[in-house]
Amino acid sequence: TTTVPSTSVYGFGEHEHPSFKHSMDFVTYGMFSRDQAPTPLANLYGVHPFYMCVEADSNAHGVLLLNSNAQDVSLSPNPSLTFRTIGGILDFYVFLGPTPENVVQQYTEAIGRPHMPAYWSLGFHLSRWGYGSIDVLKKTVDRMHYYDIPYDVQHLDIDYMERRLDFTYDKVNYAGLPEYIQQLKKEGMHNVMILDPFITKDEEPGTYRPYDLGEEMGVWVNNSDGVTPAVGKAWPPGDSVFPDYTNPRTVEWWTQMCLEFKDVLDYDGIWIDMNEPSNFLRGQYPGCAVNDINNPPYVPSLEKNLRVFFLKKEFHPLFSHLSLPVLRATGKRAFVLSRSTFVGSGKYGGHWLGDNFSRWKDMHQSVIGILEFNLFGIPYIGADICGFNYNTTYELCLRWMQLGSFYPFSRNHNAEGNKEFAKISRTTLRIRYSLLPYLYTLFFESHVHGSTVVLSFLSYFTHRSGRTSICKLVNVCLRIVTAMLLHALP
Ligand code: NOJ
Repeated sequence: TTTVPSTSVYGFGEHEHPSFKHSMDFVTYGMFSRDQAPTPLANLYGVHPFYMCVEADSNAHGVLLLNSNAQDVSLSPNPSLTFRTIGGILDFYVFLGPTPENVVQQYTEAIGRPHMPAYWSLGFHLSRWGYGSIDVLKKTVDRMHYYDIPYDVQHLDIDYMERRLDFTYDKVNYAGLPEYIQQLKKEGMHNVMILDPFITKDEEPGTYRPYDLGEEMGVWVNNSDGVTPAVGKAWPPGDSVFPDYTNPRTVEWWTQMCLEFKDVLDYDGIWIDMNEPSNFLRGQYPGCAVNDINNPPYVPSLEKNLRVFFLKKEFHPLFSHLSLPVLRATGKRAFVLSRSTFVGSGKYGGHWLGDNFSRWKDMHQSVIGILEFNLFGIPYIGADICGFNYNTTYELCLRWMQLGSFYPFSRNHNAEGNKEFAKISRTTLRIRYSLLPYLYTLFFESHVHGSTVVLSFLSYFTHRSGRTSICKLVNVCLRIVTAMLLHALP
């Protein structure tokens, strides 16, 4: 437990926080990566045991507890913070600032500077779970062009796969997908394919190379006997095994599979989903061992149906982190979008805020999430525009498009079965596109100096900040106003 010099505490993740500045009224946040749609106080997809405290004299400092075990932190009005972790070492890092921006720069110097995104990835992205067929996909792309919507990137969710099997595509419903991807590329578009980090073990031997090769190379996460793979259940038919990314052979296997797949579908980026990792069973098949790893003497404040599934517990949040560096193998600037993240993941990829809901509250909270991930050194961040779960409404979706066109990562995505959003505001995206050189420069500064891409006005006006930043902000504001005026002219 430590006292803190003020109640202005920010950070800790990943959670849905109702405000950027935390309540210190005896609130406890658990941290353990988990497949959980944003829910108040719940531990979500990533783990970031890092906070920033802004003192009364505007000086700021940051603290990281570099620990990946299940843990929680309590905030009290003293003001004080209490950390409880169930393992590992108490590896604390202190960043002295003095400005909030300096704290983030020092933090990213320690954990790894954010990656430099490819320019195309700053364009608008369209996605949807459940196009269901290449015809619907083509019609959607054509409609985007018909309405003249600025748009650069098309995502493909799990319905492009054959029976949700990684590294395959559905040759019936998506017949001709490789050729269509080539065509889109020729037209200047980029494509991102989803992959899930679990591999079914129940296909006919000799018919599913990702499993057969992985089995031969011995790349799965094993039980404590060190030889029997741990088994769970996720999207693909049958039961699944999970790649052990701490094993160098696994990195070889994963890279090989991604490269072979690129020869079939020439994607430009990978969207790694469900990498908390997610498992649809409560624990592993046929049940978890009764030991103090699965039943620790102190259970941090985590969602109650937590099961420490198959992984030595401190390895759990690192699973996603270790799966990210893969696309470097293509020799191009990589695009990797990851649902789960850990300290330092920004070095490899970006993130979106998960399965939000089509509600005004979620639109509001996306701004808080985006500010927080800028503190965590993952500035390539966005939320599913218009909301993922539930049907959206015309007004909400339109306003969300207007807000989302200023997200660092701007993607409209929604869940299977929900209404498709067709009429998007062209004007707001054109403003985004007219600002892309500025956004790109902000990412460059983030990559080189570790600065934030999005920061709160508070950081500019109440705390000391460099003259150049103020100039930059004024410049961007003027640019936005000019662009708006230009668009308003007949
Ligand atoms: C969960 C992801 O969060 C979501 O974005 C995706 O559409 C579904 N999985 C299906 O792949």
